[in-house]
Parts: sequence; C-alpha cells; structure tokens
Amino acid sequence: MWAGSSRSTPVADQPWITFAYPQREHEALQDAIEQAVLRTLRSGSYILGAEVETFEKTFCQLTHAPHTVAVSSGTDALVCALLGLGVGASHEVIVPAFGFVAAAEAVLRVGATPVFVDVEPATLGPDPATCDAARSHRTAAVIVMHLFGQAVDLEPVSTALPRTPVLEDAAQAIGTRLGDRQVGTLGTVGAFSFFPAKSLGAAGDAGAVTTADADLANRVRHARVHGAPRAYEWNGPGGNYRIDALQAALLTVKLGALEDRLARRRRMGQALADLLVSHGVTVFRGSPACSPTYAPFVLRTERRDEILRMLRDRHVDARVHYPRTLATANAFRAFCRPGTYPHAEQATRQLVSLPCSPELRDDELDRLLQAVDEVFRGL
Ligand SMILES: Cc1ncc(COP(=O)(O)O)c(C=O)c1O
Repeated sequence: MWAGSSRSTPVADQPWITFAYPQREHEALQDAIEQAVLRTLRSGSYILGAEVETFEKTFCQLTHAPHTVAVSSGTDALVCALLGLGVGASHEVIVPAFGFVAAAEAVLRVGATPVFVDVEPATLGPDPATCDAARSHRTAAVIVMHLFGQAVDLEPVSTALPRTPVLEDAAQAIGTRLGDRQVGTLGTVGAFSFFPAKSLGAAGDAGAVTTADADLANRVRHARVHGAPRAYEWNGPGGNYRIDALQAALLTVKLGALEDRLARRRRMGQALADLLVSHGVTVFRGSPACSPTYAPFVLRTERRDEILRMLRDRHVDARVHYPRTLATANAFRAFCRPGTYPHAEQATRQLVSLPCSPELRDDELDRLLQAVDEVFRGL
C-alpha cells in the first residue's frame, strides 16, 4: 500500500511528520470551500442563519443524531451541554481524571463542582467502580471522554450511575463508531470540536452539541444565545456561544470529504498498529467494539522518554497527551483527592502520540513507518 521511501535524504533535511496539515486539507477542496466562503461573505448573514442550519442538518446525517446545535467551540459545546442539562452551582459532575482540560473547565464555568474519578486503564474512560463511590445526591452528570479517536463503552458507567445523564466529550472522536453507532450519540448529549487540527477542522474555532432529546436540544439552542428562546427573552442561563456562518459554510463542504479522509486515517492507523504489535508494543485501544479513527495514534510504553527522543531525532513529531492529570493540575487542585487516580497517573507516564493525519502523503507515511520500525527494532 505504501510505496517508496526517502532514506536517501538526510533526516535533518526532511520536513517533520506532524499531526495536522490544514493547508493541504484546504488545497484538496479549495474551489468548493472558497465558493462557499465567498457566497457567505456576499450574503451579509454572518452569524447563525441558513449556513448554520444546513451544517447542522448535514452533521445530523453523518452522526445519525436527531439534533445538532452548532456552537462556537468544542469547549463551549461542553458548557452548552451542561447548561442544557440544567447543571449549575448546587451540582457535582463526575469527570475522568485523565484527558483534555476542557471538560473540567466547563464544569467550573457553569458553577458546578468537578468530582474527579480514576480511569479504567484499557479505554481511559471513567472507572465504573470509582464512579459509584464518587456519586452523591448532588451528582448531576458524568462526562465520558472518548480520547484519541477511540471509544469508551458507556454501559458500565451508566450501570454504576443509574439515571445520571452522560455527556460524551467526542471532540477527538468524530466518525469513531462503537458497533454501528457514532460516538457522541451514545449518551444523553455529545460535544464535538472542530478546532482546525481535529478530524473535521474549521478555519478557526467551532463546535457542536448532539442529542436525541428535542427539549434538551432546545435548551442548548437557547443557551447558545444568552438563554433566550426569542430576542430579549432572557429566560435561562446562557451566553454568546454562536458559531459564525463562515465556519458553518466551510464545514459543510468539508463534511463531504470526511468519510474518505477517515477511511485513510483508519488504514494508516492499522498499518502503524500492525507494525508496533509485530514489535510487541502495546497499542492504545478503546472498547473492543470500537472502530477507531486514530486521532491521533497512541501507544503505551514504559520507555516513553527514550522513545520520544528517538522518534523526534527522526523528525517524527511524537508527543505526550497528556503529561499531567486533570486532578493534579493547579487549576483543579482544590478538587483533587491525592493518591486516588493511579491509572490516570500511569497514563501520564506511558502514552506516546504519533501523527496519523490523512493528509500525510504515501512517502511520508513510509518515513513514519520506517522511523517507528527503526526505533522499536533497536530497543
Ligand atoms: C477531548 C477534548 N475536549 C474538548 C476540546 C475542546 O475543543 P475546542 O478547542 O474546540 O474548544 C478538545 C480540544 O482539543 C479536546 O481534545
């Protein structure tokens, strides 16, 4: 599948292999994107409106979510989802101790208290046993993060927390499936990010909330515009979480190419996984029923720093996601229960992220595979 190699060029002269190539993405769809952007500019309608409605409908088709509310960013999608669930100052929200900061931040932004729980080591989802221990009469929701284009099975979490709404943070898992269902549509409400480096990237910040609950979708729509169902009727909590029409117009075009790009991501991720498994390396894998999108590709190793250095010496932009737990970050220290997140701590020491962008050319993928092969062969 991946022909040719470029070993004749010294590493120092080779460009870095990295996680996202927004310019290449743009070039592939340039005419259609620029027409959509021009059409929007000429329309004079720049916030919400027809372009946003079209995007929301198209996103519903992709995810099979009955309702999509497009918003200003993935972080704001989490905030709007919590507001839509009615989460506020008297509530607690259960948050996995490992992952991206936005989930914990969103809980604080709606005035609630994050209750950090350890993660289950295989999928990095919230550990059901610790969820059970963390729940109280104030628990208003649990956040499940589907990290690295993988999926967490919600069943065990929902069993541990009966009647508790599940907010899926699907920012890194656009197009990831669990069985035949799209991640972000498995729980009560889903949050997506269209940050430019994500699998579906805007030309700036954008995000979306998905749900099957029409009332919840309405509350999220109102939260998006200052809690107002109609102009100047400020009935509930909200803010300015509106998405720009320009981003929506561009995203609708990009949605048309998403399936092909995800298919390439899957093939590339599988090639990396096969190679690493042949070297006896542990590849991070979500639930067994998950069809991952490798956003990015992640492996586990006890020799993390050494491997990072060797990959970076070969101009592979290997990185650590994430070097600290949420619970031990300064911003959330007040909510940390030291010593109770052993698997989250372990993840901060073991995970290495590798680029797996569908915009990598075949020769670059060859270089990536060759670099990985050399590093693990030499250990
Ligand atoms: C898991 C996760 N949640 C939420 C976000 C926040 O998205 P945004 O940057 O669009 O606010 C990100 C972004 O990196 C993310 O990775």
